Formats: sequence, C-alpha cells, structure tokens
Amino acid sequence: MRIEPLNDTIGASVTDIAPDDLTNAEVAGALLDALERFGVLAFKGLHISDEQHVAFSRHLGEVEILPVPGLEHPEIFTVSLDPDKALSAEYLKGTFHWHIDGATDDIPNKATMLNALDVSSTGGETQFCNTYAAWEALPASEKARYQGLRVLHSFAAAQRRVYPDPSEDQVEFWEKRPAKVQPLAWTHRSGRTSLVLGATASHVIDMDPDESTELIARLEAWTTDERFRYQHSWDTGDLVLWDNRGTMHRALPYAPDSGRLMHRTTIVGDEPFA
Ligand code: SIN
Repeated sequence: MRIEPLNDTIGASVTDIAPDDLTNAEVAGALLDALERFGVLAFKGLHISDEQHVAFSRHLGEVEILPVPGLEHPEIFTVSLDPDKALSAEYLKGTFHWHIDGATDDIPNKATMLNALDVSSTGGETQFCNTYAAWEALPASEKARYQGLRVLHSFAAAQRRVYPDPSEDQVEFWEKRPAKVQPLAWTHRSGRTSLVLGATASHVIDMDPDESTELIARLEAWTTDERFRYQHSWDTGDLVLWDNRGTMHRALPYAPDSGRLMHRTTIVGDEPFA
C-alpha cells in the first residue's frame, strides 16, 4: 500500500491496495493513522462491494445504523438527489454548503466514507478543507481572540442557506431539531486545535449580530481557501474517507437526474467538542 500526499495541507491518495486488504486490521490501523495526518484519503477506482464497504467501516470504529426497517445493509445511507433513490433527497441539497457532520450533536461523527456507484457528467465533485491547518495558519493575535468564543449551531441555519425565504411550516419543522452551542476553536485530545464552522453556524454567542455574521463569513472564507482545500473529482468505483473532526466538506451542485449515486457509511465519534 502506498499513501502519498495530494498537496501541502490536505488529502492523500492510497494506491496499490485491493478491496480485500481493507479488512486487514494492520492495514485499517495504518489508514486510521494516515487519516489523522492527512484528513482525507482517496482510493481511485477501488470498486468495493457493499459488504466490503461495511466490513472496512467496522475496522475503523462503531458504524452508525440507520433507523429504517428492512434495509439489506442498515449501515449504508444512499446519497442521491433523486427522490426515487434516496429518502433524504430533499435535505441533501444542504450538502452543497460547507459543513461538519453532526455539528449540532454533543459528539460529532469520527469519519465518513463515500463509495461512488455512479457519477454526474457535470458537477458533483466533493470539496474538503482542513480546519486544523486553517487554525494553525491564523495570526497569534486572532487565535487569542477566538479562544473561548462559542457559536450556536442549528439545522435551521443550514436549511436557511438552501431556502433563504422559508414558509412558516418549514421553519417550524427545522426548529424541532435541537440547536447546540459549540466552541469556535476546538482543542482535541491530541492537542491539535481546529475551527468549528459550516452551514450550521448560526451566530456567535454574546456578540453583536452584524459583527457575528461578518466573523463567521470571514472565518469560513479563510478556512475554505484554496490552500487548505482538496477537491475530489469522482469516477465510478472511487472511495473517499474523511476525518469529520478536522475537516469540512461540501458537494458541488449536480442535477437530481444526473445519475450521481453514492453509498455512505459513518463512523460514530468518541470525542465531544471541547
Ligand atoms: C455529504 O455531505 O455527506 C455528501 C457529500 C457528497 O455528496 O459529495
């Protein structure tokens, strides 16, 4: 197996590996170490089966189970904008905006993996940015200013980016999902610090609303700048694994009838935001 950086700040390609190697404990351990270091691991043209996808996911940690009866693989969530193929097609438009999975939970997901079953001929690339590298590169004076700031994250804030002019029913439905206050700068057990931002970030607690909006927008632009970013252009059979705790991601827009179809597994987190 060869693991080679894709650029200076985020992403590595993994080559010389076969699908069955992924369920070797030693290989999975090496990949987890590489994930902490590079944030994103891209395997081109691996063509794994659903069974291999689930088995590999289990080697990385506890796998999230979907609360939907009758699924052949309850670990696999279908990502598609076509409502005939995915139950959550409507809400997946939210994935066009930068986000961290589980930003409104106490403990965010540890990692996420997408297996490309079919791709869009235009759009549908996935972008990732390294929120550790973005924090590291901030001037010391800004770091000192941001330590201790807290941000309210909500499903409603994320949906408002998709539907800026919502109906009362939409807002009522969104607000049923509890919001959560998170630190702006998260110091992990490893000692590394990352920025906690994304579409769910509503406002900075106890800050003037205009100042808060300006700060969140400026820090999102900083964190997602090209120098901290990797863009994955999908081919059928690609597998991409990312560290959800030290990255944000988004899909570039694609059409519901583009055919783009991904299978996703999620590794449950074990480290609360702090
Ligand atoms: C996601 O945000 O989980 C999906 C990203 C993608 O479809 O590229």
